[in-house]
This record gives sequence, C-alpha cells and structure tokens, in this order.
Amino acid sequence: MTKKIAVLPGDGIGSEIIEQAVRVLRAVAPSLEINQAPVGGTAYDLHGHPLPPATLKLAQESNAILFGAVGDWKYDKLPREHRPEQAILGLRKALGLFANLRPAILYPELANASSLKPEIVSGLDILILRELTGDIYFGTPRGIRTATDGPYAGSREGFDTMRYAEPEIRRIAHIGFQAAQKRKGKLCSVDKANVLETSQLWRDVVIEVAKDYPDVALTHMYVDNAAMQLVRSPREFDVIVTGNLFGDILSDEAAMLTGSIGMLPSASLNASGQGLYEPSHGSAPDIAGQGIANPLATILSAAMMLRYSLDSAALADRIEQAVQKVLQQGLRTADIYEPGTTKVGTAAMGDAVLKALA
Ligand code: IPM
Ligand code: MG
Repeated sequence: MTKKIAVLPGDGIGSEIIEQAVRVLRAVAPSLEINQAPVGGTAYDLHGHPLPPATLKLAQESNAILFGAVGDWKYDKLPREHRPEQAILGLRKALGLFANLRPAILYPELANASSLKPEIVSGLDILILRELTGDIYFGTPRGIRTATDGPYAGSREGFDTMRYAEPEIRRIAHIGFQAAQKRKGKLCSVDKANVLETSQLWRDVVIEVAKDYPDVALTHMYVDNAAMQLVRSPREFDVIVTGNLFGDILSDEAAMLTGSIGMLPSASLNASGQGLYEPSHGSAPDIAGQGIANPLATILSAAMMLRYSLDSAALADRIEQAVQKVLQQGLRTADIYEPGTTKVGTAAMGDAVLKALA
C-alpha cells in the first residue's frame, strides 16, 4: 500500500529546508505519495487560519507529516488563536502526538561548534523525551480574568493549569524506559516534585512503571538541577523523560550544547505510530529567502520519519550516512561553518546529500 506523507513547509526558512528534504525523500522512497499544504502564518495569510481544516484533514489522513517551521514576528499582534504557533499546538493535540523525541547529538566533525569545552561535550548523545499533549500547555481552566480573592482581588490576573493524569504519565514513562533499553539503559525523570503536586504524581507513577523495566537504571532530578547538570556534565545523561513545559526548556538547552541546532531532528508520535517530524530549530525569519539555512535537521527528520512511521529503517540509515559523509567532506552551511571548511548554501547542501546517497 502506498504510504502518504503530508508536507507542511510553514513560515520563514520552512519552504527552503523542506524543499531539500523532499528531494532526499523522493530519491530514497520514490513510491511515497507526497502532498503539500500551507500551515502557520503562511496559511493565515492565505486562508485566515494557521491550521486550515484542509491542512488538518491532510495531516490526519497521512502516515506521517514532515513539518518545516512556523512563526514570524509580523504575526505577534494577532489574537492568540490566529498566531502561527497554534498550528503546531493544534496538530499535536488533534493527532494525539504525545511522545516527542528530541535527540541532542554532538557530531565529531562539529565538536568546535559547541560553546562548552570539547572535553565536556565530546561524544554527547542525549535523548530528550518530552510529553507533548498535556501539562500547563493544554490544561484548563486558563485565561485572563479579574481576581476575586487573595491580596490582588480586583486586579486583572492571568492563570493556567498544570495537570497530568496518571495514564498520560504512564504511557510516556513506558516510552522512556523502552528508549533507554535500546540505548545505554539510563533514564532520568525530570520533575519539580519538591514543589508541585503534578510532579509528585509524575514521580510516583514513573517509579511504578519502573517495576516493568528492572534492566533500566532510573534516576530523578528536579528541573532546576537538571538545567544545571546539563551544562555541568551533560554526558551523564542518556534518556531524559519529562513533562511538556520542562521538556520545552530543557530540549532547547540540550540542543544548544551541541552548538548546532541546525543539525537536530525531532519526532512527535502518537499511539498508532503516526508521527510529525520537524527540525528542532525554528523558522528563522531573519535569514528567510536567502538560501543559507541549514537543511540537514529537516533531512534528518525525514530519516526519523522513515524509521519510526514508515517502517524503513534501512532507508533512514542511508540518509544518516549520507549526512555524515557530507560533513566529512567538509561542507558546512553558515551556522556550522568554521575556517578550513567549505561554506555552502541550502540547495548546494541538498545537492551534496543527494550525491552522497548515490
Ligand atoms: C517547540 C516550540 C513550541 C513549543 C512553540 C512554537 C509553541 O517552542 O516545539 O519547542 O513551545 O512547544
Ligand atoms: Mg521550544
């Protein structure tokens, strides 16, 4: 049966990087049915909504989604429900993409790109597993109202609700333990159980789930300490499992440890293996249209897509090896350039990956 892919380029550099990833996908998997649709600010401009019904329908009917990036300062003044970010949040929620895999790998060829000393980061290979459909991101009630109690009664107040139900914690914990089993066997669960009830339940449930995985070494860390340990001795970590908000913050920190966020892919999966794949970096509107963005994170996201949603691990390996090869050849986009290497643009990097695949 032909597998269907929805390609949603989005805003900023989205269309440039997606174009290269689609070339790579077509080269390794010519039988894929690829359909494209607008999303984010681009979709708002065209259809008055960042996630138009036709785009959502296409995503729902596809085996996997390849997503570029959304966001541009020019939409900052729109009401929240029309801002580009609502597209990605809406897709996560509508498709139930609760498991977000954000690997942070330091490529040996790019060891100098990190702002940390090489002896601290060399060989870094962390997987951040972020719960993606719960927590304060989606918890209700939320809003802005006039406070009726407390010392600020009568003033305007903003409020959000942090909440996690046991089944939500349980299913992400299982994925965390299983990921650790396939790696170095270490799982660190990050919470704020010294302050938050949500986190206390999180910790209790993770400890229960751990009984099914005696071969995995489980540790717990408060989020503030985890943020510190990530820059102090990041290689201590193997898999980190955490909630939506903490995972948002820690995954940016982990990505930056590698110095090359332009290289990092991500996957967001639901219970049936359907997934959304996107680079870990954003839409970078400041460099959009210049042909200088790094397409490798998106190309590597396409590889993750083949591995996790399309049952084609061998094709994923081929793409990852081709990326490794172009790095070894010394080709670099501006974000990872250093003297002694060859600076190339977005399309030339795509050309090089295609050539390395052949
Ligand atoms: C991310 C982003 C999103 C998030 C934004 C764009 C809503 O920061 O994917 O990490 O906060 O989840
Ligand atoms: Mg983020």
